[in-house]
Amino acid sequence: MANSKYRILLVDDDKALLRLLSMRMTAAGYEVTAVTSGEEALAHLPLLRPHLIVTDLQMDGMDGMTLFNQVHSRNPTLPVLMLTAHGTIPEAIEATSRGVFSYLTKPFNSKVLEENIARALKITGEPTTGDEEGASDAWREGIITRSPLMENLLTQARLIADSDTSVLIQGQSGTGKELLARAIHNASQRSDAAFVALNCSAIPESLFESELFGHKKGAFTGATRDHPGMFRAAEGGTLFLDEIGDMPLVFQVKLLRALQEREIRPVGSTESIPVDVRIISATHQDLEQALADNTFREDLYYRLNVVNLELPSLAQRREDITLLANHFLHSFPDAAKRGVTGFSSEAQEAMLYAAWPGNVRQLYNVVEQSVALSTTPLIPASLVQRALRSEFGDIPSFVEARGQFERDYLTQLLQITNGNVAQAARIAKRNRTEFYKLLNKHQLSPPQFKAMRS
Ligand SMILES: Nc1ncnc2c1ncn2[C@@H]1O[C@H](COP(=O)(O)OP(=O)(O)OP(=O)(O)O)[C@@H](O)[C@H]1O
Ligand SMILES: [Mg+2]
Repeated sequence: MANSKYRILLVDDDKALLRLLSMRMTAAGYEVTAVTSGEEALAHLPLLRPHLIVTDLQMDGMDGMTLFNQVHSRNPTLPVLMLTAHGTIPEAIEATSRGVFSYLTKPFNSKVLEENIARALKITGEPTTGDEEGASDAWREGIITRSPLMENLLTQARLIADSDTSVLIQGQSGTGKELLARAIHNASQRSDAAFVALNCSAIPESLFESELFGHKKGAFTGATRDHPGMFRAAEGGTLFLDEIGDMPLVFQVKLLRALQEREIRPVGSTESIPVDVRIISATHQDLEQALADNTFREDLYYRLNVVNLELPSLAQRREDITLLANHFLHSFPDAAKRGVTGFSSEAQEAMLYAAWPGNVRQLYNVVEQSVALSTTPLIPASLVQRALRSEFGDIPSFVEARGQFERDYLTQLLQITNGNVAQAARIAKRNRTEFYKLLNKHQLSPPQFKAMRS
């Protein structure tokens, strides 16, 4: 568990305690840098690049919370462990709701300290040497997470970034598919060339070929000049095909050929042009289902899906909710201007337990709306709840709505017919077997309705 390569920055203005803690942590196998003030800690940060900060809450000069805020705005994923005296527990609890990893009340025994350190370090991932870390962090800038699931995914993404293999990113809408695609591009050797994104659901079927492969002047009515197309725009770089599940079948076969032969032929041209493009595609659809339905070509699927990365939904990484919410809040200039500094603990709880069908994008919208409407420094739960409702809450999904309708309809029929299935089925113009199936699906039992009348 303890690893000599993990670097810990220790901050406390009590020199005796600082020495004691430093000794214990060093003995536990960590590389410890001990400083006596928040200011000093900040100065050490860029060079040291610690995996964890352990800081006292109450200090002369910059206190632990101010230090945390400063650290957090530069590096939102760096865990901070807070040490507190007895009287400051409420502040410490408040601190954890703002993203401080955990707090320890003095006096604590070294075992508890070590457990907390180990837990915090788990989320920062494997220790690396300072050099590697500095070089490899820029590519994932903007992806805010402390979720082990996400860290795992990012590690995979980093590993395959440099190769030219095709990547298929799957995940619900708003989970960050495009963000990840861009990160892979940034981490690749192609990062100096273009990242070109194309949303397949936004192009009419007839325009796919000319949008992607380009066209010659005069190739069709309206083609008043040569158009290079997306493939050539992405030459040497990455072409991101978003919502690939919406690509029309007729074009799928043409794309496959272009990928196999590494050349494209612009519409109206007789010559093929070689292209060097890395393909990353994404979809929120179940492509395997699309294969079964024959709406997506199997050969193209295997060509695109050499590496498959699946983004977890926000509900699968709830540890990211508070982190992301605070990150978004501080990213709105409006928040600072109007003195909105954070979320009340009830508001945080509301976010923590929400369903988030729209994932990170929905969270962003909820935070934006809450900030805009808040009249207090801490956003109240009521605003968050309202924003949550106005986003998705009131509208059920199609499947839910249909289920609801079926249930109501069947209940009505059974009430009218006093639980007589033969009669109810006749009115619904369904045969009895089918009708029984429907009743079973909704767990409605006809005798129940007979009893209701008597
Ligand atoms: N981990 C994250 N950290 C910070 N911002 C994020 C994160 N994940 C997503 N976002 C932000 O959330 C929004 C949605 O992300 P993105 O567009 O990449 O999602 P998507 O999966 O492509 O969604 P859709 O399926 O709706 O197109 C963007 O504004 C993006 O910057
Ligand atoms: Mg997208």
